[in-house]
Amino acid sequence: EKNNFDHFMLKEIYEQPSAITDTYRGRLLADEGIIRMAGVDDNLERFLNAKRILIVACGTSWHAGLVAEYIFEDLARIPVEVEYASEFRYRNPIINSDDVVIAISQSGETADTMAAIKLAKEKGAFVFGVCNVVGSSISRETHAGAYTHAGPEIGVASTKAFTTQITVLTLIALKLAKAKGSISNTDFHMHLQELETIPQKIEVALESNAHIKEVAFKYKDARNCLYLGRGFNFPVALEGALKLKEISYIHAEGYPAAEMKHGPIALIDEEMPVVVIATRKGHYEKVVSNIQEIKSRQGKIIGIVTEGDTSVRDLADHVIEIPDTIESLTPLLTTIPLQLLSYHIAVMLGKNVDQPRNLAKSVTVE
Ligand code: F6R
Repeated sequence: EKNNFDHFMLKEIYEQPSAITDTYRGRLLADEGIIRMAGVDDNLERFLNAKRILIVACGTSWHAGLVAEYIFEDLARIPVEVEYASEFRYRNPIINSDDVVIAISQSGETADTMAAIKLAKEKGAFVFGVCNVVGSSISRETHAGAYTHAGPEIGVASTKAFTTQITVLTLIALKLAKAKGSISNTDFHMHLQELETIPQKIEVALESNAHIKEVAFKYKDARNCLYLGRGFNFPVALEGALKLKEISYIHAEGYPAAEMKHGPIALIDEEMPVVVIATRKGHYEKVVSNIQEIKSRQGKIIGIVTEGDTSVRDLADHVIEIPDTIESLTPLLTTIPLQLLSYHIAVMLGKNVDQPRNLAKSVTVE
């Protein structure tokens, strides 16, 4: 079942090009300029009349929700709030009947997410599910939804579920943007064309595996690790840190790069590896100056950069390249090296990568 891979996690990391292709199969018709998603088409008015979108999820799925917040607001100009399902359900939240709630869950069985859905339904909101497991409880409880079609995810650490969730959410955002007219035709077509190239670009990103393994070897004995990113890649930093802690048991934290000076910079010394997502888009110059600040305090930099980058290469201890793409789609590529880095570190430390201690694949109790 693992084919030639040592672990399910590695197999699932490598499955991402085909998983994403499955996610958009029959939905993304780039040449025709159409995105077809029955769950959205059938409820288009609810989406278009929504004053806001509330996203509820846990763990990695919550990180996908955070990426979606940037994408929805940027492309579709709909205000988005992203909530931990466990916090949302217990705080007497304000939910209006014209809210659209998107619940994201790989397993479709997460107890807190399920409870948040029930609450939102009681208040009259329209609830849309983004699940991987077909026929799961959450997929049945929601009013409508879209499956990620990532195929079974066996490794406890979520990998292909995350990138396919982002893919589905991007398709929805683009579809709404088109319907609302908040995106130009040129931009819309460019996004569709570019989305179609993502699986191929992930293949390219995976070619850095051997290099990433060498980097992993250098940092496997670190006690702590910091992950920094901005904009669309801030949630990717959170996800990179979660991947490292859950399978290698190394303490890791993700931060928006600019927040570093508000506290975490105090942690930086020659013992501290800092993984910085510094693609040549968005706030590149600002991230480069964060890297300079870290270097002047002897921190070790692992930069995730756009291919051909030279500025970060000059400063960083290591760089891992990913292909160029449009900014909103970079999370689909920057995630890949972070998954591989965690994987190799955990394997080198002899940890049980597919079944980390204390964790379960679906959290059906709160
Ligand atoms: C992290 C991980 C967990 C899950 C979380 C939500 O790798 O697997 O953080 O993402 O328990 O699970 P689902 O998406 O099934 O609701």
